[in-house]
Amino acid sequence: MSRLRACVFLVLLACGVASASDDQQSDVARMSQDLQSLPPAEQRNLANGFVEILRGRKIFRFDTFGDQAFWGDTLKLHQAIEGADHGGIGPGVGPGTALAVGLKVDVDALPQPLKQKLAAGRVDLNDPANTLALLQLNAVVGVTGFFDQQQRLISMGIQCALCHSTVDNSFAPGIGRRLDGWPNRDLNVGAIINLSPDLSAFTNALQVDDATVRSVLLSWGPGKFDAALLLDGKAFRPDGKSAATLIPAAFGLAVAPIARAARTLDDEARGSHQSRVAGVRGVLSRTVSGSQLRVVHERHRRRVPRAPSH
Ligand code: HEC
Repeated sequence: MSRLRACVFLVLLACGVASASDDQQSDVARMSQDLQSLPPAEQRNLANGFVEILRGRKIFRFDTFGDQAFWGDTLKLHQAIEGADHGGIGPGVGPGTALAVGLKVDVDALPQPLKQKLAAGRVDLNDPANTLALLQLNAVVGVTGFFDQQQRLISMGIQCALCHSTVDNSFAPGIGRRLDGWPNRDLNVGAIINLSPDLSAFTNALQVDDATVRSVLLSWGPGKFDAALLLDGKAFRPDGKSAATLIPAAFGLAVAPIARAARTLDDEARGSHQSRVAGVRGVLSRTVSGSQLRVVHERHRRRVPRAPSH
């Protein structure tokens, strides 16, 4: 195989791995056929690489790094989602609202009967019970619900895919196949955090009242997130504009660096993150998991030039 063809093949393969679901037989068959035409040593190298990518992909999509301690236990977002009828607080969050704040649904995680009901418009998009069902199916991209034995939602965490993935809308707007690494520019992270009934993690850290925190969160808008708010306490830039930054595409960095970033974070999370964040207003020791997310962003801030934006 010529060098060029090998390159093209690799790119195709990378795209295939990024977008195909695990069960796409034809992709797998095509890949293994192409792989077999390479020298054995090359095949082994590639196979090792793909194993790493798939491991990273799993972390990227599904590993919360324990951050349910922040999003669930601290912010109590799961209570806002389930609503008073299901043991939480307030009206709850139906799938319609979830989609409206930019959350995406992985169509490959939906069983066929549910897809049919959805297509026929027979799923009540205002009923929080249906959001809970989606969480139980692990179908909400980047969000993991934790359920007890009575199937009650007791916490929730997020993963990289929440912000750095979207879907191809192939089933319906907001519902489709995962696109790993594509920034979710519909995602209103601030509006989601604003659903929290308890923002004391923010009010205590920033020494401002609840209303101020909520107005800052709502100032972010779709596609933006201020990963440093709890670190530097600065909600606005010197020119008065929001300090939130646009969620960047991660696929430009290829799947592997993201996987590596996630794995490095994974290693660090088990080691030294505590010392890294020690002293940051003391609050982070309680919200360890939230700080883990910030650790990765701090790292990127140092290494990667900030994307020109807004
Ligand atoms: C809540 C949303 C959110 C989550 C979750 C999130 N990120 Fe990010 N990520 C961002 C934003 C916003 C930026 C831009 C930060 C900046 O410029 O200050 C960013 C930047 C990055 C960059 C730098 C990209 C570039 O081109 O500059 C990488 C790499 C990255 N994130 C990887 C990850 C990984 C790995 C995870 C999971 C451990 C993760 N992110 C989780 C919002 C998020």
